[in-house]
Amino acid sequence: MKEEYGLFVWPCSIILAEYVWQQKSRFTSASVVELGAGTSLPGLVAAKVGADVTLTDDSNRSEVLTHMRRQCDLNDIKCKIHGLTWGVWGTQTFCLCPNIILGADVLYDSCAFDDLFATVAFLLQSTPSSIFITTYHNRRCISIFFSCFRFS
Ligand SMILES: C[S@@+](CC[C@H](N)C(=O)[O-])C[C@H]1O[C@@H](n2cnc3c(N)ncnc32)[C@H](O)[C@@H]1O
Repeated sequence: MKEEYGLFVWPCSIILAEYVWQQKSRFTSASVVELGAGTSLPGLVAAKVGADVTLTDDSNRSEVLTHMRRQCDLNDIKCKIHGLTWGVWGTQTFCLCPNIILGADVLYDSCAFDDLFATVAFLLQSTPSSIFITTYHNRRCISIFFSCFRFS
């Protein structure tokens, strides 16, 4: 997938952002990490309702990370922004310890599943009772699914 895919607001992102808004009491004061955030709508809504948010995307996609910073500035939102490539552990990854991990439309390429789930499993283990909330777009039947995972 090309860099510009992280510069488009995918439908999954709108649905996850709507979920965050509907469940805002759950997000207030939570530590949230958004993976493959791209235009970052769910993470920005989480920050607006009082979460401590770290937005992440592939470290190799500098344009996407630059756009995320601009989005935060334009909306006057304070978020941390990190390059986080799935399956790659940098020092910052060890310090994240989120209660809630968000991922909108991050399950689009089966070649990346192992790396993505390795990162998700690591983050879930780093904080007891943390959860991964994701929206998935089945492009063959135009359906969007919503899932929530816990490590056990
Ligand atoms: C389909 S886009 C979804 C973007 C955004 N979450 C949305 O729903 O609008 C997939 C995102 O995953 C990011 N991504 C792809 N491969 C990645 C990897 N190996 N590590 C981290 N992020 C990755 C892309 O840069 C892109 O932002």
